[in-house]
This record gives sequence, C-alpha cells and structure tokens, in this order.
Amino acid sequence: MIVTIDGPAGAGKSSAARQLARRLGFSFLDTGAMYRAVALAGQRQGVDWGDPRQLSAVAEAMRLELTDDRVVMDGQDVTAAIRTLEITTLTQHAADNEAVRRHLIDRQRKFAEGRNIVTEGRDQATVVFPHAECKIFLTASEDERARRRFHDLLARGEEVDPAEVLRKQRLRDQRDAERKFGGLAKAADSIEIITDGLTPDQVVDRLEEIVRGVQPDGSPPRNCGP
Ligand code: DC
Repeated sequence: MIVTIDGPAGAGKSSAARQLARRLGFSFLDTGAMYRAVALAGQRQGVDWGDPRQLSAVAEAMRLELTDDRVVMDGQDVTAAIRTLEITTLTQHAADNEAVRRHLIDRQRKFAEGRNIVTEGRDQATVVFPHAECKIFLTASEDERARRRFHDLLARGEEVDPAEVLRKQRLRDQRDAERKFGGLAKAADSIEIITDGLTPDQVVDRLEEIVRGVQPDGSPPRNCGP
C-alpha cells in the first residue's frame, strides 16, 4: 500500500509522515531529502548552478541510502548537513531541474517496489504515485508554518530572523506552486488536513485513522471521504 503525504514547507509533513510509518510498520520515504541531497552534492562538487546538466549528472552519479531517520550520501551521513538554510535555498536548483526530477522519480518508484510506504513531498499524489491507495494533503496557515520553521532552525542552532524566515517561505511557496513539472498541487482525490491548532500527536492520530479507514480495494475511507 502507498500512502502519499504532500503539502507546503512547514506543514509538519516530515515528522507526521515518519511517525505514521512507524505506527503502521511501513517504510518512510522523505523525497524532499533526496532533492536536498542533490543540492548538497552539487555544492560540494562546485557545480555551475547556471548549467542544469552539471547538476543532473551529479544526481545520477550520487549513491543515496534513505532509512527511516538517516540520509547517507556516497557513504557519508548527511542527515544534518542537508537541512541548513543555505542548502534549503540551493535545493531549488534541484527541484527546478527537470532531468533531476525524472531521475529522482525513478528512484522513488523503485524504493516503493514490493513494500508498503508512507511517502512525503510535493508531487507524490499527482505525479509519482497517481494510483496510491491513500492520498493526504497536509497544510497549515502561512504564519503557523513560518513559526514552526523558525523554532526548528533555532533548535538547530541557526541564527535566524522570523521576518526573514517568512519572506523565504513565501518565495519557496511561490516557486513550489509555479513549478511546471512536479509543482505543489493538491490531487483531486486527496484528503486535506489543516494542522493549525493540532498537536503533532493529534495530526498523526488523524492520519492513522484515515489510513486504517481505507478499504482494501483503495476506495475512500469510510469516515472522511474527500
Ligand atoms: O520538504 P522539504 O522542505 O525537505 O523539500 C525541499 C525542497 O524540495 C522544497 O523546496 C520543495 C522540493 N521538493 C520537490 O520539489 N518535490 C518533492 N517531492 C519534495 C521536495
């Protein structure tokens, strides 16, 4: 079974999707981490960001292992290195690069072969797994998302200005929404959850209730059809 969780930055997708996968005994796939790893590899190898072919070559050559809570690139643990503000900004080059996207989509589909997964990103329901049995769109208000991101960065020891976090988030939202191929969009058959005012546990409870309600033939959940 494939459960897709898409939504904008800061909606709380990663931690909710990871927890959900644990509760269900499914594998967890963080597709944002894949785009981030490509950006990090590009930065380390000094690619020319103006030449998209250089970054796609880096993506194809990169060895990447994703486990439930670690990201290992070419044998090195990069779990923390891919989450800095600098890499977050550079990741747009990977996300906007169509050849990189096609390549990562192949890797995502291979990852799903023969397993139950919870996968998280922007285009999982619309492009990568249009036949997924259960599709969720997780979102929150702009202010709430920026507030969470600010606290996340602080907890990681990065010095940030809340107004700057909000400004960058707006830019990312706009780029994510306008991207021609794989842009952020809610699939018609996704169930939307707005996480403002919900604790992380309440979000996971809600997700679990939805997934467990999905019928074996993939028809919508009993309790909360779209
Ligand atoms: O979810 P995240 O913040 O880790 O994602 C990092 C960037 O990658 C973000 O700008 C959107 C992009 N992304 C994407 O284009 N497609 C995905 N499936 C996942 C992430």
